[in-house]
Amino acid sequence: MRHLLSTRDLRRDEVVALLDIAEDMADVSGREIKKLPALRGKTVVNLFFEDSTRTRVSFEVAAKRLSADVINFSAKGSSVSKGESLKDTAQTLAAMGADAVVIRHGASGAPRVLADSGWIDAGIVNAGDGTHEHPTQALLDAFTIRKRLHGVASRGRGLDGVAVTIVGDILHSRVARSNVWLLTTLGAHVSLVAPATLLPVDTRHWPVTVGYDLDIAIDSAPDVVMMLRIQSERMNAAFFPNAREYSREWGLGDDRVDRLPAASMVMHPGPMNRGLEISAAAADSVQSTVLEQVANGVSIRMAVLYSLLAGSDS
Ligand code: NCD
Repeated sequence: MRHLLSTRDLRRDEVVALLDIAEDMADVSGREIKKLPALRGKTVVNLFFEDSTRTRVSFEVAAKRLSADVINFSAKGSSVSKGESLKDTAQTLAAMGADAVVIRHGASGAPRVLADSGWIDAGIVNAGDGTHEHPTQALLDAFTIRKRLHGVASRGRGLDGVAVTIVGDILHSRVARSNVWLLTTLGAHVSLVAPATLLPVDTRHWPVTVGYDLDIAIDSAPDVVMMLRIQSERMNAAFFPNAREYSREWGLGDDRVDRLPAASMVMHPGPMNRGLEISAAAADSVQSTVLEQVANGVSIRMAVLYSLLAGSDS
């Protein structure tokens, strides 16, 4: 793997191999000394043009556990706010000897531009681009589902026949897009539930079923309910009447969690709007995987950086 830009072009065997490497990385994270020398001498740059807490820190921890040097470059307070272009920024990073660039950008396609540009000869990892994709989030979600379902017997497996319902602001969600492709590749059945205003206009070519009623979806007893954050920062119009109505119709409240089978998982990529798309009780329930997702994110990002960078000299 040279870059990780999208989940759409990943093959099943590639994904399963990545998840299996992440299992090995999780073993390392469980040790007293949580460090491997695998990427000693390599430089990973975190290039974040959009705000992020957990994704940036997660990549930083992952790179450090593999003994890479990490440079955090956030657009605020950098020359980007003085109008420096992506090209100039990339060339500066290249001159500093970056081996991998982890990029989050508000424009869909920015990581692809960087990968195809020739401005920099580094592995590019998409850490979220506009409303397009967020591949490491989908990988950590798949890893979390597989681990809850199969525990120590996870290695080598996909997610055949697993029913996943993704709920909420699909329109603005790169997490939803990356998950639709990745979970389907692994054999899961994905359905989307949202108000019509928060669904993309054309999902005909997506491998999903679409519904508008969360109660019907809950009563079909899905294995996984993945709630999405309402992305107010990407909304330039009113997509639903008000917060109370949204949470009544499309929020995962206490009554809906109670109706789910005990084995169903409740997922959320974070940051959560507690009380809007998910109630506090749902977020903190035993069915919730929210904190597992964060912990697994480090293992997945270690696996991705390792796959991109280890052995690239030989
Ligand atoms: C997601 C993102 O930034 O796309 N969050 C994350 O990576 N932790 C989802 C979101 O912001 O709602």
